[in-house]
Amino acid sequence: MRRIAVCPGSFDPVTLGHLDIITRASTLFDKVIVLISTNATKQTASFTATERMMMIAAATAHLDNVVIDILDGLLVNYVKRVQAVAIVKGLRAVSDFEYEFQMALTNKVLYEGAETVFLTTSKENMYLSSSVVKQVAYFGGDISPFVPACILDTIRERLIKEEQDEY
Ligand code: PNS
Repeated sequence: MRRIAVCPGSFDPVTLGHLDIITRASTLFDKVIVLISTNATKQTASFTATERMMMIAAATAHLDNVVIDILDGLLVNYVKRVQAVAIVKGLRAVSDFEYEFQMALTNKVLYEGAETVFLTTSKENMYLSSSVVKQVAYFGGDISPFVPACILDTIRERLIKEEQDEY
């Protein structure tokens, strides 16, 4: 039996922190589905789901057992449909825990077979988030330490502020 894991998230955009979790999950499971999902509590995304998919595809092209999909619905329904054995999430710090714990338990109530597996983030990525990347890119800062090199230009071109105002 092939053991499938689903790695859900907004990925708006994908960061080196996400890539680290996806890469490590790909060594633990036979197949990893990176699932671009809607987080109903977040404001509108900066990138369309298709753009996010293209960026993840570029960043994971070297990982043979990783595929990408888009979901606009409940995660548990997807997990059930593809018969995934795990939902993989990265945990950065204690601040992530309550939110992730709540989601894991809710998913388990909705579908008993929804097992969430948490991978501890690498220490280099403890502070990293898509919002941090967006902030830095917006003001023309160097985002190369935060995102895969192959998607640097895509993110820069889209997010940089039109004009740099001087104060
Ligand atoms: O990267 P994020 O925004 O922290 O990921 C959260 C996400 C997208 C995984 C979560 O909001 C989600 O699972 N959305 C799909 C809809 C769903 O099933 N929501 C109930 C989860 S308790």
